[in-house]
Amino acid sequence: MAELAQPLPVLTPDTTLAHAPPTAMQHLTILTGASRGMGLAMARQLLAPDRLLLCVSRQLNDSLDAEALARGCTLLQWSQDLADPGTARLRLQAWLDGQDHRLLSSATLINNAGMIPRIGPLDDCPADELAAALRIGLEAPMQLTAAFLGATARWVDAGWQGPRKVLNISSGLGRYPMAAQAPYCAAKAGLDHFTRCSALDEARRPGGARLVSLAPGVIDTDMQTQLRAGDPAAFPDLQRFVSLQRDGQLSSPDEAAARLLAWLERPEFGEQPVADVRD
Ligand SMILES: NC(=O)c1ccc[n+]([C@@H]2O[C@H](COP(=O)([O-])OP(=O)(O)OC[C@H]3O[C@@H](n4cnc5c(N)ncnc54)[C@H](OP(=O)(O)O)[C@@H]3O)[C@@H](O)[C@H]2O)c1
Repeated sequence: MAELAQPLPVLTPDTTLAHAPPTAMQHLTILTGASRGMGLAMARQLLAPDRLLLCVSRQLNDSLDAEALARGCTLLQWSQDLADPGTARLRLQAWLDGQDHRLLSSATLINNAGMIPRIGPLDDCPADELAAALRIGLEAPMQLTAAFLGATARWVDAGWQGPRKVLNISSGLGRYPMAAQAPYCAAKAGLDHFTRCSALDEARRPGGARLVSLAPGVIDTDMQTQLRAGDPAAFPDLQRFVSLQRDGQLSSPDEAAARLLAWLERPEFGEQPVADVRD
């Protein structure tokens, strides 16, 4: 009986679950930073009866749960602080190792969570904010990617043939320097370069994963609000961000999410490990 063959995801106290009537095969998507902003828009667009969606943020989103339930979709939300990337890696690895890969038709990791620490020169950035920006923006994506590539490689060794993809959400600021943004720019530059390196590793493996670090454009989220609220004395580019909003240059989270998810579906996904949706 197909319904009994479907494993229920492991529940922990800070996990919520909206469980749909199981289908025979599901696409697995793991998405960080899904509680708000562009990540939430991606999560909504990813909800589908044939997908198992695991969302990872500090906050759980009740409306996403309700939507999953109403639409008959399988959704897991983990409350997980990505400023503790080692714990996040172990948790993801254990969960992936507990999945029955024979019921999955593909596996995708989207590293979307990010944060901007205090805006200003590096010496004004408090030590804890600097560390958090690098942990959330760079170390967590690397640790989660390590867990994902390792666990799914074991599935491949066991004969699984589903496609494996990693999409890292980067930024133009990883490629162009900006004053008052050193930790954020450095994290995104690191994200781009680790993606290039891991793509080379995966290209050497049979059934290797495909990885892309993709800049999403400029989007009307909390992050842009934070940038516009910067101190003009400490942030020479403040006016650029004010103008982007005033001139209607910001994409909506829904538009940006749709472009990123369409990129994932391109047949040539992974041929260029570093890209920009505006290319
Ligand atoms: N907005 C833009 O114009 C723009 C431009 C270029 C690139 N990006 C990139 O696009 C991605 C999404 O940005 P956004 O604008 O949607 O940002 P946002 O609205 O500020 O949302 C950030 C997301 O990251 C999660 N997050 C932050 N700190 C976390 C932590 N310690 N642990 C776990 N999750 C954490 C947040 O969830 P919780 O608070 O619930 O933890 C939230 O879901 C980011 O990587 C950002 O750098 C954005």
